[in-house]
Amino acid sequence: MTLGTPVRRIDGVAKVTGAARYASDEPVANPAFAYLVTSSISRGSIQAFQLEEAHAVPGVIDILTYQNIGTGFKKAKGPDGGDTTEILESSRSWHNGQIIAIVLADTFEAAREAANKVQVTYQEETPSATFDSAGVQVAEHKPQRSPDPTKGSATQAFANAPIKFEGHYSTPTQHHNPIELFTVTCAWDGDHLTIYEPSQFMAGSAASAANQFDLPPDKVRAISRYVGGAFGSKGPNPRTHWIARAARRIGRPVKLVPTRDQGFTIATYRAETRHAIKLGADRNGRLISLSHEGWEISSRPSGYNVSGVETTARMYACPNIHTAVSVVHADRNTPGFMRAPPETPYMFALESAMDELAHELRLDPIELRRINDTQVDPVDGKPYSSRSLMQCFDQAAAKFDWKRRKQQPGSTRAGDWLVGFGCATSCYPSNVGPAAARVALTSDGKATVDIAGHEIGTGAYTVVAIVAARTLGIAPEDVTVRMGDSDLPPLMIAGGSNNAASASLVVAKACKEILARRASSPTASHRIEVYAEHVPEGLPPDAISAMNKGKPSMLGGASRKDVTAYALGAHFVEVHIHSQTREIRVKRITSAFAAGTLVNSLTAYSQFMGGTIWGISAALHEATEIDPKTARYANGNLADYLVPVNADIPEVDIIMVPESDTRVNALGIKGIGEIGIVGMNAAVANAVFNATGKRIRDLPIRVEKLL
Ligand code: MOS
Repeated sequence: MTLGTPVRRIDGVAKVTGAARYASDEPVANPAFAYLVTSSISRGSIQAFQLEEAHAVPGVIDILTYQNIGTGFKKAKGPDGGDTTEILESSRSWHNGQIIAIVLADTFEAAREAANKVQVTYQEETPSATFDSAGVQVAEHKPQRSPDPTKGSATQAFANAPIKFEGHYSTPTQHHNPIELFTVTCAWDGDHLTIYEPSQFMAGSAASAANQFDLPPDKVRAISRYVGGAFGSKGPNPRTHWIARAARRIGRPVKLVPTRDQGFTIATYRAETRHAIKLGADRNGRLISLSHEGWEISSRPSGYNVSGVETTARMYACPNIHTAVSVVHADRNTPGFMRAPPETPYMFALESAMDELAHELRLDPIELRRINDTQVDPVDGKPYSSRSLMQCFDQAAAKFDWKRRKQQPGSTRAGDWLVGFGCATSCYPSNVGPAAARVALTSDGKATVDIAGHEIGTGAYTVVAIVAARTLGIAPEDVTVRMGDSDLPPLMIAGGSNNAASASLVVAKACKEILARRASSPTASHRIEVYAEHVPEGLPPDAISAMNKGKPSMLGGASRKDVTAYALGAHFVEVHIHSQTREIRVKRITSAFAAGTLVNSLTAYSQFMGGTIWGISAALHEATEIDPKTARYANGNLADYLVPVNADIPEVDIIMVPESDTRVNALGIKGIGEIGIVGMNAAVANAVFNATGKRIRDLPIRVEKLL
């Protein structure tokens, strides 16, 4: 067994037969059901609740509001650890759809009926919905991991550049719609709390509740054996605390299954962004100056931002770099992580601009990337741990038959349809975080692995089984993997595409220790058990205990001292646009990725493919519209929020470019969860330009923008 061999999911049968338990499937004794009441205004305050009619509904147990829940609650934290739009904590309405009351009843139906009978009197203020609305506040941002990259003198170099390009780009609000809703069930047994919720961070979910209730960590257990889609939306969050508090208050387990519509305002989402790009080049296309400024929408109290300039500044060789990011505070819910949070919007801007520059220079866009390709981080001079960008472009271009593309836009037709080819760079930082695992091997060759990992649909159980099997020299079927339980040894948050690397490194370490023990005393024991911890070099040595306290840490991308670590890729798209109606159809996709070691090529293929499909969706379909007057989402439901269906997606051709990286980590794993989406939006926009000569700089690209 070698890494990379396709292995079917070990939990596949459990999933398709319904045996896999998702959080809200977990049975608890005698649960009460919660239903959320949300703010119908955007900015303002609650003057009064009229609860009599609601209380009169048979089966209603209690209605929690800020007026009756008492004090002593610790402030909720946003996805960046900062302030957020708290729920139930005051009379303040920060945004439309904020949770303002929680109704508890014997049945879901009674709770829902009573919630609809809660009457609220508000004092309403004029809200600021988005960019350009009166009353928004523009603030400097707090950089995420490293300061905004700068180098040389970008302004002067741009002024002197023989070829100059300037462009403005924008990306819309987008909302998570994972199949599994944002559920949570809490049950107390004395002072011991059990939480069932879909979670991307088992240790964090438990620690966050322990902190809220001043409990020792071993008094809280979070369980999340399977997660029905996460993509950044299922981190620790204050809803859990309120449901736990409700359960303690009524002395009964409480189960919350919010509606899909409520998911648009009670959970996090991808913020709307704007970009100003300036590229200066010499006549051969070599970049002389790069400037990328970004603006991101956030809520009033939260400074959450993704600052993707950390990535765009280091994609191409360039001696003069300027970047800046600003946060624009509006009366919105707090945004948060959504698949490749920084790279998806910021690479749209850069990769569109690179295509525009190539057009101005009459260069093939692939050649412009080749001229500016680099094996050295242009910002700080570190080597890339490995970087196979041009291998991705060349292999995908050959398979896609890119040579059929005509440089002149609008010059290829198929009957009534205009045909366009487009391409773009894809990338994602390769991250790794702390992890612990317990592995046991019995003399009959069966192994058990315990790790508080996260199966968010990626095939995480199978990855762990493969690594254990390969290291121990047994078959994956002989490995039992237990995950999704905070009582197990902790693993870093399933974000930043780190979990395959982080889990594999610690599991391999534990398995090697088992082999060493067996070798030193071959006859000693029937069962060898090893607990191992792995903290990547460069992280604080106490990273495991910090993680147990809910504080995640990871290293990768540009934040490492020794190398800059990224996976890279190239997207190719053919679009057909009807010459009269401007209907847009994606005809073909070929995408190539080089992401180091792929633990399981079967699920890796699915991850890449899923990402590229979401990229098409981001380019052509998805946008949450906000009413500029009321600051309410106009299409905050899955019926009106466009996502692609099968007919929108042609066959997706994924090329997995072999890449061996000995520097990124001991197993050469770069992570693949997020790269697939990055740059696809630009590849589509570039193809639309090639088809029509019309450059769309504002996503999504819809028929009306092409008329
Ligand atoms: Mo991902 S958006 O880091 O879950």
